[in-house]
Amino acid sequence: MEPAAALFAALYAALECGEQHQRTALLLAPDAPFIRFIEVGYALRACLEDRRQHEYLLQRLRPHAGVIVGTLPPGLLPHSMLPRSPALPQFRPLEQISDAEVRDWLVQDAGMVYGELQQDELARYFAAIAPLLAPGGLMVDLGSGLGKVVMTAALSLPFQRCVGVELLAYRHQLALQRCQQLLALNRQQLQRLPQPLQRDQPLLLPGGASATLAHLLDLPQRLAFIEADMFTVDVRAATLVFLYSTCFGALMPALAHKLASELQPGALVSTTTYPLSHPAFRILHHYPAGTLAWTAVNLYQRYGEWDGSAPPATSYEPDAAEWEARMRAELAAR
Ligand SMILES: C[S@@+](CC[C@H](N)C(=O)[O-])C[C@H]1O[C@@H](n2cnc3c(N)ncnc32)[C@H](O)[C@@H]1O
Repeated sequence: MEPAAALFAALYAALECGEQHQRTALLLAPDAPFIRFIEVGYALRACLEDRRQHEYLLQRLRPHAGVIVGTLPPGLLPHSMLPRSPALPQFRPLEQISDAEVRDWLVQDAGMVYGELQQDELARYFAAIAPLLAPGGLMVDLGSGLGKVVMTAALSLPFQRCVGVELLAYRHQLALQRCQQLLALNRQQLQRLPQPLQRDQPLLLPGGASATLAHLLDLPQRLAFIEADMFTVDVRAATLVFLYSTCFGALMPALAHKLASELQPGALVSTTTYPLSHPAFRILHHYPAGTLAWTAVNLYQRYGEWDGSAPPATSYEPDAAEWEARMRAELAAR
């Protein structure tokens, strides 16, 4: 193995296993950031934990089956981030919570599910998009979790900067910690190379792109993580937006509208599982499930003129009878 290949292998290895992280419960305090989310979650969970309320729970969830990931919402499962401490006195029961609040909760709950693509999937992904990217540019991962894709992108391709945007504070903190670990390992690995190091020394990147040693020497300045709601972050300068959107189904129309409004013509967007159905984007490649990754990957380009109007939202509606049968079976098994 060449020295650079060993160096990259060590750096990639440091990014593994994020999906196994311990979920941190959300903070339960009257002015905590996710307090409305916790309130609705508590109301739904109270119904789940009382058999006599199962029929009512089913009735409240039924209209929103299309935005639930799986059968029972992930936020009601044992490993969820809902705290276990007693409800605050002002928390309302489900009867006093509107349908719109339940739906918003389900959409947000689905979006906070955690998962990471495997290293071989990311290697295939970056190899596929490399020929479409000019050196430099800004890569943004909206919903960056523990930062694996952002850091893999900064290692694999000659982006000038790679930025992750994550909603949950504890995931953002874990991404920062992982980033510090990666940078420390990078420093150690660089010290093992023949000294003195020259910034313009040629370096072959794992995907085959040519760079110089500045690619690794500048790694600290090329990486950034922001704790924020992705809908509040300006992505106008991005040349690639990455979305591991498998749990973002109900957010796709709003995301497409945001990206169409902000991105420059030529910018690339990739999604997983769900398409980006919007007239401002054309599809460059569709990689069916099982080719690049376990799920479908779609690559789009922002192009041409667009009058600013939002296309009609398309939504996924599961077979109602089949959903209800699954839900009843899960409730009965509790
Ligand atoms: C499936 S994980 C993907 C993590 C990372 N992109 C990866 O591929 O390894 C999706 C992430 O999006 C985050 N997320 C959900 N809604 C968000 C929002 N509105 N703004 C920012 N991040 C969000 C979740 O907390 C979660 O960490």
